[in-house]
Amino acid sequence: MPDGVPVSASALPDADFAGAQLVGKFCGQCHGVPAPTSRAAATWRLVVERMVLLMKKTGKTVPGDHETELINTYLLKHAGQAGTVKLSRHAAALLPEWR
Ligand code: HEC
Repeated sequence: MPDGVPVSASALPDADFAGAQLVGKFCGQCHGVPAPTSRAAATWRLVVERMVLLMKKTGKTVPGDHETELINTYLLKHAGQAGTVKLSRHAAALLPEWR
């Protein structure tokens, strides 16, 4: 995947949790499954929002609102620490104070 750390879905932390399974199911459709620790919490919501739009545009399977919430909850819970992981390009543009 572009600038993340792909992992296999079964290697996700808390792999039995619904959120992990949804990340494996939805987020591996176009690129490798992203490691939750590869982004800081502030980044994840922005990334997920954009990814859901991409899924809609490209006709992929799109998570429902409840599934999207579980994905966010899961990614935020396991997010990397701000300052030790980089912000995505998009988040950096939107959150200049974090750069
Ligand atoms: C429709 C195909 C598609 C799906 C499904 C998809 N992505 Fe992406 N993803 C992309 C594309 C294309 C890029 C590169 C362009 C961009 O960053 O907008 C990308 C880039 C990324 C990046 C790196 C860019 C950044 O801003 O950090 C992350 C992290 C990411 N995706 C996470 C996810 C997560 C989490 C999911 C599941 C919620 C997901 N992706 C599902 C297509 C997809």
